[in-house]
Amino acid sequence: MADLWGGRFTKDTDQMVYEFNASINFDKKLYKQDIQGSMAHVKMLAKQNILTESDKEVILKGLQSILEDVENGTLVIDMKYEDIHSFVEANLIDRVGEAGKRLHTGRSRNDQVALDMRLYTREQVERTDLLVKTLMNTILKTMEENVETYMPGFTHLQKAQPTTLAHHYGAYFEMFKRDRERLHDIYKRMNYCPLGAGALAGTTYPLDRNYTAKLLGFYGPTLNSMDSVSDRDYLIEFLAAMATIMMHLSRFSEEIIIWNSNEYQFVEIDDAYSTGSSIMPQKKNPDIAELVRGKTGRVYGALMSLLTTMKGIPLAYNKDMQEDKEMAFDAMENVQNCLILFNGMIETMKFREDKMAKSALGGFTNATDAADYLVNKGVPFRDAHGIIGRLVLYCIEKNCAIDDLSLDELKDISEVFEKDIYEAISLETCVEKRLTIGAPGMDAMREVIAINKEYLKSFPELSVK
Ligand code: ARG
Repeated sequence: MADLWGGRFTKDTDQMVYEFNASINFDKKLYKQDIQGSMAHVKMLAKQNILTESDKEVILKGLQSILEDVENGTLVIDMKYEDIHSFVEANLIDRVGEAGKRLHTGRSRNDQVALDMRLYTREQVERTDLLVKTLMNTILKTMEENVETYMPGFTHLQKAQPTTLAHHYGAYFEMFKRDRERLHDIYKRMNYCPLGAGALAGTTYPLDRNYTAKLLGFYGPTLNSMDSVSDRDYLIEFLAAMATIMMHLSRFSEEIIIWNSNEYQFVEIDDAYSTGSSIMPQKKNPDIAELVRGKTGRVYGALMSLLTTMKGIPLAYNKDMQEDKEMAFDAMENVQNCLILFNGMIETMKFREDKMAKSALGGFTNATDAADYLVNKGVPFRDAHGIIGRLVLYCIEKNCAIDDLSLDELKDISEVFEKDIYEAISLETCVEKRLTIGAPGMDAMREVIAINKEYLKSFPELSVK
């Protein structure tokens, strides 16, 4: 073990205490951000004449060599250090000697870790945003190709009214649009630099916090040093946004699992994205969709965990906050993997248009349109609803669809029916007549697709600076 506080202590830390306290095992992920932050800090110290130019050069070179060696595998981040901050500092001193000992001037691990975590999270927000964008592109492409692909729309998982695949996918497009907007919002709020807050009360050195903030691509410095070292709101917000993304992916997955079932057969998942059974040779299982649905739980868990960790922490830094990392890292990694795999799965998935249209024809999905037909002929809607209800009952007994009845049979139930009823309740008419914006009618749908295309093109990608 190698600790940073030898001076005040007369005894070594108990081994189990040391291990319990250490975070290197997981904060090693932050090596790049830690070095990046230290480089900015050193440049600022030199600019402010707190450090000499030559010490700055020596330290920057040392840090750069540590970064390169970690990345090419010649320097292994080993567990004998408490955390990534002590690992980098100790290695720097090893490499450059005296100058390395000046790196930590005017800085505490509290503002250091606050900065590292913010830099890391910011990068993950950017990546997540890009992956959601890619998924939205896939969804939009499917929408463009399926404006006339009929399928049943459901409520209570019962066939309700006919719609199209473009319309159904369009619902998910809207969800992911909101997800991206949430990420952009979070980004705006989080992009302030906590470096320079010190342990909690700033420092007596004349630091230029605006300068480090600028070097690191932040809009500016945070404005309260106590809040700077103890704020993890941005991470909670990101976890909440990721939980919402997972909720959307999970609902989408659930639908694909249903569509892929033997009973539905609306879709066929590509071999590359399904798995077989070790015992049942006929099986092709939608494991990716199921795992995406399943992994939603751990992302919700990460959000609840951090909210709970933070709820009783007095100002400013407390060690509890080290618990912000493991589950958040796990959530970030899993959400990104889910987005990549889910996108691949739906990009390669085939639709069985025949089965979808056939299904849309059954289940009396045109019953509302039949009632609307009567309304158009002057029957009050409440009466029309009753007439069509009786009609449906009659069809159930006869085991047929409304369209299968003869005009005489229809007239037996209501004199108002004429020959034009068949045209009025055909699948095509049912969908085509729904032309209010947001509805599945082809013209309305094409208009929305054009708006969404423009949106995807003009909505910016997030990136530092
Ligand atoms: N490993 C710590 C964390 O993740 C770093 C900050 C340590 N600061 C301290 N005062 N012990 O929060």
